[in-house]
Amino acid sequence: MFYPHPPAPPPSPPPPGGGPLRAGLTAGQKWLPPKWFYDADGSELFERITALPEYYPTRSEREVLATRAGDVAQLTGAHTLVELGSGSSEKTRLLLDAFTGHGTLEAFVPLDVSESALAEATAAISADYPKLDVRGVVGDFTQHLDRLPGGQPRVVAFLGGTIGNFLPAERAAFLRSVRDVLDEGEWLLLGTDLVKDAGVLERAYDDAAGVTAEFNRNVLRVINTRLGADFDPDAFEHVSYWDAENEWIEMRLRSRGWQTVEIPGAGLTVEFADGEHIRTEISAKFRPGGVEAELGSAGFAVERWWTDSQQRFGVSLARSVRG
Ligand code: SAH
Ligand code: TRP
Repeated sequence: MFYPHPPAPPPSPPPPGGGPLRAGLTAGQKWLPPKWFYDADGSELFERITALPEYYPTRSEREVLATRAGDVAQLTGAHTLVELGSGSSEKTRLLLDAFTGHGTLEAFVPLDVSESALAEATAAISADYPKLDVRGVVGDFTQHLDRLPGGQPRVVAFLGGTIGNFLPAERAAFLRSVRDVLDEGEWLLLGTDLVKDAGVLERAYDDAAGVTAEFNRNVLRVINTRLGADFDPDAFEHVSYWDAENEWIEMRLRSRGWQTVEIPGAGLTVEFADGEHIRTEISAKFRPGGVEAELGSAGFAVERWWTDSQQRFGVSLARSVRG
């Protein structure tokens, strides 16, 4: 694996007044930066989420890839498959299998902030696809896209509906940044969860076994470990709801009682009122026309749009065009 930066030490205290953590925890409506979910425990909890009966996105996207991976290989004839936020890369094997049959693919480049998830995935995939040049990159897909190895043409896969975890303005900037590192004619394969019945959506983010609640609270454990904070995760309750106006699921943590938390690594003392919420993550859901319009604004032309048999999840294959 290689690192665009030296392997990250625990983040040093932010400059006076700076840092997204400080900004989030001193705001009127408190919020936290989402990539802090994914330490080794967070990655493992996410894998458990993907197997929950209520969490349909993984199964729906897998169904699409199982039927369309051959089309992706044939249409793109890619030499490199890049995967952003790759996690376990389990579904990606469907693409690798199709490309193996097609014969053009030389390199697989998974990129993730979670070093543990990436190490496991690259080891397993190298063993199962011995002819493939597997080059894991530990990095942040909002910062390190300029460092991607591999010959052209490339397909960049961004699966799992992770695009929905950006706010709309961040999403536009991200899509543009992907377009900017590609040459004209190279490809983006994008997974987007679709707007659907509110009950189905809400259950997917608040499962009966409580795994999603543990995943949500894990963000507090990560802050404890990395910044020496003293959050009591059990003193926060998992809350998630469908925001029908914004068409996103919003995840929050609600303080049980008044509490004061020390975060030495950020030089912060934070007070929580009884019942006060911290916003931890959004998961936006899409409509087909919206995906096409957003990709168009970023410089991509959608060549294929596929959904699963229940129309729960969409996958688009888009080509980068001029502009
Ligand atoms: N693609 C997988 C995993 C989705 S979960 C799937 O479809 O199942 C989101 C993944 O993105 C996690 O593995 C997480 O570690 C990674 N991730 C989150 N924010 C990131 C960032 N800013 N840069 C790189 N990876 C990130
Ligand atoms: N990319 C996943 C999604 O939006 C991430 C996710 C699933 C998530 N469940 C969560 C993030 C619970 C925070 C809390 O579906």
